[in-house]
Amino acid sequence: MTYEQIKDILTKHNQLHLLKYYDELTVKQQTSLLEQISSINWHLLELVQNRQDTEAVKGKLEPLGALEVSEIEKHKEEFTQIGIKALKAQKVGAVLLAGGQGTRLGFDKPKGMFNVGITKDLYIFECLINNLMDVVNQIDTWVPLYIMTSDKNHEDTVHFFEEKHYFGYNKDFIRFFKQDMAPSVDFNGKLLMEDKDRLSLSPNGNGGWFHSLQNAGLISHMKELGIEWLTVFAVDNVLQRINDPAYVGAVIASKCDCGGKVVRKADPQERVGVLCLEDGKPSIVEYYEMTDDMIHLRDENGNLLYNFGVILNYMFRLDKLEEIVNKELPVHIVEKKIPYMDETGAFIKPSKPNGYKFEELVLDMIHLMDTCLPYEVIRNREFAPIKNPTGVDSVESARALLQENGVTL
Ligand code: UTP
Repeated sequence: MTYEQIKDILTKHNQLHLLKYYDELTVKQQTSLLEQISSINWHLLELVQNRQDTEAVKGKLEPLGALEVSEIEKHKEEFTQIGIKALKAQKVGAVLLAGGQGTRLGFDKPKGMFNVGITKDLYIFECLINNLMDVVNQIDTWVPLYIMTSDKNHEDTVHFFEEKHYFGYNKDFIRFFKQDMAPSVDFNGKLLMEDKDRLSLSPNGNGGWFHSLQNAGLISHMKELGIEWLTVFAVDNVLQRINDPAYVGAVIASKCDCGGKVVRKADPQERVGVLCLEDGKPSIVEYYEMTDDMIHLRDENGNLLYNFGVILNYMFRLDKLEEIVNKELPVHIVEKKIPYMDETGAFIKPSKPNGYKFEELVLDMIHLMDTCLPYEVIRNREFAPIKNPTGVDSVESARALLQENGVTL
């Protein structure tokens, strides 16, 4: 698009400030800026103007329950054997979602590079690889691992893994891929810029992971390897078991399209998304979408019915993912701290949220599946997310849980 065409578009959308420094730029920078502007999805900005994200109003919700720990224990051996068989045949890959910016933690580098060690170095990435190595050692086979990064943290992440020799993992079984980026806006819907020639782009949420895997040409790679299932997990839960055979086996045995690890809620009001049924299909209802009646609904034995919170550890059938890859996911408008260039041209790193990012979320993929197995895990053994420096879901709380589970820090 030409400068004039871009100017017309920006005038129409009331975003002419993007060209404020255009005349100061080199020809190369000018071309780059025009390219960035021409690829803006204006639909996203309309969502902000209308003050609504595309999260559909929920349909009819019903409890889904979970395969509880007591049941899992009874069938542990059977599930484990099914899981081991699939894992040994390398039918199950693992996808690490590490494209986020971890703004709450406030760490400058990719979150996985954060050192949770006290008397020795122990990086978040290292914790995850150690956890996966437990499975690799058990099955004596490498698990193909795909690591999602973004434009913001790709180089740092890849260099870190190289420098640390992949923490002992076989690098032939690790592939990195980048997720897509989306623009961000201030609270008035004005597009933010990072520099005179650059829009402020942010990773577009963890929901685009499969699309990005496909764009990177990795689905055909998976098929060549014979992969039929993918687990997907967050970077920040340092305790989670990854591709543990009992979980893998239980999901396969259930014949469901997907599975998700869940933990029993700490209390009915806990702020977690709960796996349930929506119009007969699996879905995740966020805590703020639940009515008081739902929160306190109990069965005849007094057990809460919406009681199992998701921990961002899912397992999907690859063929089902391919069926839904082109379906649109809802766009969530999220308040975040977004570094930007102010009207004087100075670069600002805000200390509190100053605008919106647009994100698609992996949890919305669950509702595109026909069936899902919620698989209960014990909270203190498998859930230690690091979101904040201190307090709830923090470095402090995760360190305590790691130590409780025998990890030397
Ligand atoms: P979070 O919801 O914690 O988001 O991500 P975040 O951006 O990393 O952190 P805050 O909210 O700014 O503090 C949950 C998981 O999804 C990944 C993260 O890396 C983490 O593993 N994620 C998130 C992506 O891979 N891409 C994204 O665009 C967002």
